[in-house]
Amino acid sequence: MAQQIPRHIAVIMDGNGRWAKERGLPRREGHRAGAESVREAIEACTELKVDYLTLYAFSSENWKRPKAEVKALMTLLERFLKDKADELNEKNVRLQAIGRLNDLPKGPLTQLHKTIEATAGNTGLTLILALSYGAREEIIDGVKSILRHVRDGLLDPAMIDPDVFDKHLYTRYYPDPDLLIRTSGEMRLSNFLLWQISYAEIVIADKLWPDFRKADFHDAVAAYAARDRRFGAL
Ligand code: IPE
Ligand code: IPE
Ligand code: MG
Repeated sequence: MAQQIPRHIAVIMDGNGRWAKERGLPRREGHRAGAESVREAIEACTELKVDYLTLYAFSSENWKRPKAEVKALMTLLERFLKDKADELNEKNVRLQAIGRLNDLPKGPLTQLHKTIEATAGNTGLTLILALSYGAREEIIDGVKSILRHVRDGLLDPAMIDPDVFDKHLYTRYYPDPDLLIRTSGEMRLSNFLLWQISYAEIVIADKLWPDFRKADFHDAVAAYAARDRRFGAL
């Protein structure tokens, strides 16, 4: 059986647009409603004493969406980071981020650094936002980092193994996710943590992200606890 509580949970928060469409609302209202599910996911993880929660908030590919939607998402992100700083501190949550962060507009990027700084001393849950994140981009950035280390004589190519490669990824400070949750019923990874989820247990929930609340989070963890993780052994 898997350990009762996953140490690291990663979530592909999908279905905000469809949630809004079902209600005849603009897509940004779905994103806004999704922010409340983020709050509840953080609460659930705090209650369960999960150590790491990674949320896929904006993918490398999401830049291809209409300008107005990208702008709405960036505005929401900036506001979320600003408004949530106190709450994160109250809950002892430390904020981190992965992705090509320098691609973010100045407003949300500055606020991101501020909130990371403001919560840096917290010792409870580590909340990792994946922003302008793509797993293929991360792997390429990792390969480039390895090449620089080899060129500078800091790394012997013969020593490169999965543990060494891990140390060149954005996620080098965190353990691999044990549980991957995707909402809205989609059965795909959409370029999320391809290297790190090699042995994660996957739970696909049919609910759209804005409808996925604390009880659903607890259900996903219960499903995880019932899994038999073998890691290729017997
Ligand atoms: C997830 O919801 C949020 C982001 C990708 C930023 P979507 O915006 O993908 O919603 P759907 O999948 O179109 O319903
Ligand atoms: C994945 O959702 C990205 C995030 C949740 C941030 P998408 O809605 O972008 O993925 P696809 O397009 O359905 O694969
Ligand atoms: Mg989607």
